[in-house]
Amino acid sequence: MKTIIEPFRIKMVEPIKLTTREQREELIDAAHFNPFLLRAEDVVVDLLTDSGTGAMSAEAWAGMMRGDESYAGARSWYRFRDTVKDIFGFEQVIPTHQGRAAEHILFGVMVKPDSIVPNNTHFDTTRANIEYYGGNAVDLPCVEADDLDSDYPFKGNINIAALEELVAREGRLRIPLIMVTVTNNSGGGQPVSMANIREISRIAHDARIPFYMDACRFAENAHFIKRREAGFDNTSTIEIAREMFSYADGCTMSAKKDAFANIGGFLCTNDADLALQERNALILTEGFPTYGGLAGRDLEAIAVGLREVLDENYLDYRLLSTRYVVEHLRDLGIPVVAPAGGHAVYLDARRFLPHIDPLQYPGQALAVELYIEAGIRGVEIGTVMFGSDPHTGEERPARLDLLRLAIPRRVYTQSHMDYVVEAIQLVWQRRNDIRGMRIVEAPKLLRHFTARFDWA
Ligand SMILES: Cc1ncc(COP(=O)(O)O)c(C=O)c1O
Repeated sequence: MKTIIEPFRIKMVEPIKLTTREQREELIDAAHFNPFLLRAEDVVVDLLTDSGTGAMSAEAWAGMMRGDESYAGARSWYRFRDTVKDIFGFEQVIPTHQGRAAEHILFGVMVKPDSIVPNNTHFDTTRANIEYYGGNAVDLPCVEADDLDSDYPFKGNINIAALEELVAREGRLRIPLIMVTVTNNSGGGQPVSMANIREISRIAHDARIPFYMDACRFAENAHFIKRREAGFDNTSTIEIAREMFSYADGCTMSAKKDAFANIGGFLCTNDADLALQERNALILTEGFPTYGGLAGRDLEAIAVGLREVLDENYLDYRLLSTRYVVEHLRDLGIPVVAPAGGHAVYLDARRFLPHIDPLQYPGQALAVELYIEAGIRGVEIGTVMFGSDPHTGEERPARLDLLRLAIPRRVYTQSHMDYVVEAIQLVWQRRNDIRGMRIVEAPKLLRHFTARFDWA
């Protein structure tokens, strides 16, 4: 069969409130032109994030009923820990309430003022947590990532030559850990190849620097390796995932992505001494080491979700449904990041709106217009998110200006995606009339969440 179907049936639905363009113009104005400040019920198709927005299965809901809420040593903790160990393979598992809590604890223990932490591209919370401890978060995307149009299959790769050069220059005293984000969220949701992971591991271990993965979308990355990298088509996706992690010394994970959970995360390491320090920090901020910041029922849901996400029929559907949107947009001549990534469609706002200077935030303008057009909510990943120098506050263009439309897992159907494609086409047709924006008010760190905007 050529038709790809959603490999699930729906037995519980949530109504969507439909709004008019006039209502949306007022609503986005009242939200200071920041989609984060809208009420979710005023959004028709919510593509703000794929994080914590997935639909859980009947099995995961059943798991929630089985949740053991004992303070210490709960049955649910052991189920969670054993599942994480089985897939990720690390010796020490530390539960946290979400991914950034794992980052905060990891960097609190490892990063010193002036440390350098390289990554393919740091996600906003990763970067902010490193900078919070006085470190420097350095992005080393591969050169192929610069060409947003090419079909290079692993644009999430780290630039190996640049990493080698950085490690040779700065050494292990300044670089407490090397990270790679799978898939590379801020760089267009692009996967990292196994060959690249092996090389990073070699460089890290030759220099005696620990190597960590930001593993949020590990299953999508593993499945891309199966479908795109030579030599893996006969290997199961779970085995590919295990091999990916076998090269690392630890990971941070947000279970709100590739575990289908609405909340949750964890930190893993093979270093028992480090784990001891991390657990001490955990007790201070998250909770006892057998629950972290989570309820027993959350631990159960994550244990179920981690297995379900590795179902290859689901992953085929997931990657193909994202590709469906990307290919339709490409056929219409609309600039998108190619090839399709796993969890999101990224519109290239700089080419969509070439008349808007990056310092007038073309990604934000596009986000606002797409909301006004059809009630679709996306998030700017560009100069609003990354354009302010953390040390000087100086405003400079980010490497890219994208509008990310993240697709929640198992939530929307193909007709929702057809609606999204049509809406983008309508905005594309009137793109020359779209104006830039300015920031009226913003905090210093992670400003995109709460900043207030107006038209420039
Ligand atoms: C690559 C990446 N790392 C870390 C995080 C942080 O995870 P959380 O939102 O659970 O704190 C995210 C969340 O979107 C992410 O995409």
